[in-house]
Amino acid sequence: MHPSMNSPGSRALITALGETPLEAIEQHLTLEPMAPPDPTQLTPQDVIVAVRSAAVGWVDLIMSSGQYQHLPKPPYTPGLEYAGEIAWAGSEVKHVREGARVLVDGFVAGPRSLGNYQSAGGFATWAVVPGFAVKPIPGALSFDQAASLLGSYETAIHCLVTRGRLKAGETVLILGASGATGLAAVHVAKLMGAKVIAAGRSDEKLAVVKSQGADHVINSSAGALREAVKALTGGQGVDVVYDGVGGELSIEALKCVRFGARFLIVGWASTPFVAKGKGQRGAPNANQLPTNLIMMKGLDVLGCPTVISAVNDPTLRAPRHERIWRWVESGELKPFVSNVYPLSEVKEAMRAKWRGDFIGGGVLHP
Ligand SMILES: NC(=O)c1ccc[n+]([C@@H]2O[C@H](COP(=O)([O-])OP(=O)(O)OC[C@H]3O[C@@H](n4cnc5c(N)ncnc54)[C@H](OP(=O)(O)O)[C@@H]3O)[C@@H](O)[C@H]2O)c1
Repeated sequence: MHPSMNSPGSRALITALGETPLEAIEQHLTLEPMAPPDPTQLTPQDVIVAVRSAAVGWVDLIMSSGQYQHLPKPPYTPGLEYAGEIAWAGSEVKHVREGARVLVDGFVAGPRSLGNYQSAGGFATWAVVPGFAVKPIPGALSFDQAASLLGSYETAIHCLVTRGRLKAGETVLILGASGATGLAAVHVAKLMGAKVIAAGRSDEKLAVVKSQGADHVINSSAGALREAVKALTGGQGVDVVYDGVGGELSIEALKCVRFGARFLIVGWASTPFVAKGKGQRGAPNANQLPTNLIMMKGLDVLGCPTVISAVNDPTLRAPRHERIWRWVESGELKPFVSNVYPLSEVKEAMRAKWRGDFIGGGVLHP
């Protein structure tokens, strides 16, 4: 028996959807004791994962207030992405045995999945998932890095490569470059041979983004993004914009592009309330982009929903997994994790993600 199964654990629960993520964290997030799962109650295709690290993601936040497109049914355990050790494997699971270091595919198990394993969130000591949801951790990644891999890097590849058709030698402007998906985009764009201009509001965070490979960093809070980008591109503007921020910064970035550029809609961290709280739809404040700029600059504006695209076309995933595994195993791709919390500090970890304290990833240790 795996040593983790000898003592009780704990798990986080969202007991009701909040009006906002912060209200959900303060009013509806609890930590409760958890008994080790009983293998006699599981199927031969199941595994028990002793969770070692769970990413605290943006979707974990906006899902807690029902403001994400995929609605969870409370009570549920958050934690879309996590990694750990196999504590028990059913007799029909052949590719991993007890003790194996694995990451869990959030498409297959956990609160973002669509099948029977939605209760297997990673903010818990254990998760019961189907064997085909776990993959051996590639390369020399730590549990923290493995928990911060698929969501961010699949997004960066879907946006920059599949949708953005980024080529070596092109210049890409990455908004929100200190964030989870933003920093992954910096890494992926550099691996693709592109020149990276990274934007953010904090000199301290931008210094880390630069040390992670960005060619240039711009503090956009000074209000001169356009001038700075034009100066770095010989007055031409960039070939591609990776926009995970939205709002006013999107409008400013539309003025930083060359004719015929690709503008990738990745997310809207600055304007999260485009759906009403408590799982209601149809808030009136969705982002709007000026059609005159899009028209006159001949832009390709591309929506880039990573999960929804793969649900519509499952063949999208295998090539990007192959790319991620190759880059990790060659040592070229190393996710950056700035903050680590014990599970007992789940509220503070989620508040910190909401405040934008993390650079790249932030994780919980059950
Ligand atoms: N397309 C997809 O499939 C996909 C996948 C994953 C995530 N997303 C979306 O991408 C967005 C970012 O997610 P994430 O996990 O990277 O979040 P994150 O880690 O919180 O990063 C967002 C970054 O945006 C910047 N930012 C936040 N508020 C801002 C504001 N008011 N003005 C300017 N910049 C601001 C912050 O950088 P500074 O503090 O340095 O300015 C922050 O680091 C979210 O909307 C998320 O839903 C989309």
